[in-house]
Amino acid sequence: MKYLLGIDCGTSGTKTVLFDERGNAVSSASASYPLYQPQNGYAEQDAADWKSAMLETVAQVIAKSGIDSAAICGIGLSGQMHGLVMLGSDGNVLRKAIIWCDQRTGRQVEKMNALAGDKIAQISANPALTGWTAAKILWVKDNEPHIFEKCRHILLPKDYLRYVLTGELAAEVSDASGMQLLDVKNRCWSGELCSLLGIDKGLLAPVYESCEVTGRVTRQAAELTGLKEGTIVVGGAGDNAAAALGTGVCRQGKAFTTIGTSGVVFAHTDKPLIDPKGRIHTCCAAVPDSWHVMGVTQAAGLSLKWFRDNFCGAEKEAAAQLGIDEYELMNREAESVPIGSERLLYLPYLMGERTPHLDAYARGVFFGLSALHTKKHMLRAVMEGVAFSLRDCVEIFRQTGVDISDMAACGGGAASPLWRSMLADLYGCEVKTVANKEGPALGAAILASVGAGIYSGVEQACDALVKPDKVCAPDSDRAGEYEKYYQLYTKLYPSMKESFAELAAL
Ligand code: XUL
Repeated sequence: MKYLLGIDCGTSGTKTVLFDERGNAVSSASASYPLYQPQNGYAEQDAADWKSAMLETVAQVIAKSGIDSAAICGIGLSGQMHGLVMLGSDGNVLRKAIIWCDQRTGRQVEKMNALAGDKIAQISANPALTGWTAAKILWVKDNEPHIFEKCRHILLPKDYLRYVLTGELAAEVSDASGMQLLDVKNRCWSGELCSLLGIDKGLLAPVYESCEVTGRVTRQAAELTGLKEGTIVVGGAGDNAAAALGTGVCRQGKAFTTIGTSGVVFAHTDKPLIDPKGRIHTCCAAVPDSWHVMGVTQAAGLSLKWFRDNFCGAEKEAAAQLGIDEYELMNREAESVPIGSERLLYLPYLMGERTPHLDAYARGVFFGLSALHTKKHMLRAVMEGVAFSLRDCVEIFRQTGVDISDMAACGGGAASPLWRSMLADLYGCEVKTVANKEGPALGAAILASVGAGIYSGVEQACDALVKPDKVCAPDSDRAGEYEKYYQLYTKLYPSMKESFAELAAL
């Protein structure tokens, strides 16, 4: 039997999964790390934490599985997108990574627009965005020139892990699309955009297709992990493009929703389809010669985690006593509250928002709190608010003519039957799950299977390795109830937009 390794560097932690060549998970391990928020709107992580989480979890999965690591024929990497990792001349990390949900770069986005205007959307397929990498590079250039001067290489989070494993500096198209320096249509770095923005193209690593081999495990990484020296590492993919493969979304007409730290509605396209209003993102897919569009809710699972960490100490204790996951208990509590949380709404803008309101200043809101409400109502309102925000993404897809009726769900949030049924009711279509819940790690392993020559192409590998599971159908009565609250939800942001900006300026 041959094996494949998928490593997913997420925001809450890194998950490493060993799969057999039929796509069954043989062993897995996770390690979590902190998110630093030195100021309101800032979000950073330590690349050293990602590195040790990867080394630790790889060593654990190999040890747990009991297999000979020589049977692992390929490694794929997946990771949170847009994070800025800066390396000096000797490969040392120069500062904490500024990650995807950071919103400090308002000024740099203005500057990008002044420097490159329409060229940004024409070449990078997206409007200048605060959370994407180019604006972060300019922020460091403007605010920490002493660090910028020392910077010789710029990498994304998973590409830094590749550097640790293989010693190679390499990027791949799906994740590189989120740097805003890639010519997304032609799948290569844009010298023109780099020079308009004043970013040296030489800082960027060579860019590969996601299933191409980018390097081999070094002796040092092999000693630290138990991997066999020389094992191939493929390009891999940004977490959403990887999750797409792990849920079988590799052809036009297929879509999925992920509720991880962020929430994403994603559809595969065979052409680079660009929303003229810039409300949804266009990136290269991890399948050669294809693309995807996605709408992003910044704080999806993050909203629920924030609520758990700050208000659900009792649930944590009770769950530990019952020997169940605390989220399962929180789900049961939310289920005990009726649709609409007895007239309580939540706007999930804890980290600003992207789709449909591109607004770094937006912040979270509970609307309609009354003395009748309890923690359970707030809990359900948080879950509903996230689902409303994902429905906002679906609305834009429908307006732009993207078919989302073949909809899958993945990510930690998709494990919740309540959240899945909210999505089905609010989208008005079935929401499916696949048997293997490892989304991005499986997607990364699928890419490794192609790089290792087990399958001839990414679609063939997906067809062979992704197996369908449950289907959650919409219910017209519930859908009618949700609709009333959703319609009110859509009115709240416009009425608060100016107040959010005023709050940010205080
Ligand atoms: C996508 C995005 C997030 C991150 C974190 O544009 O910012 O989904 O990839 O997971």
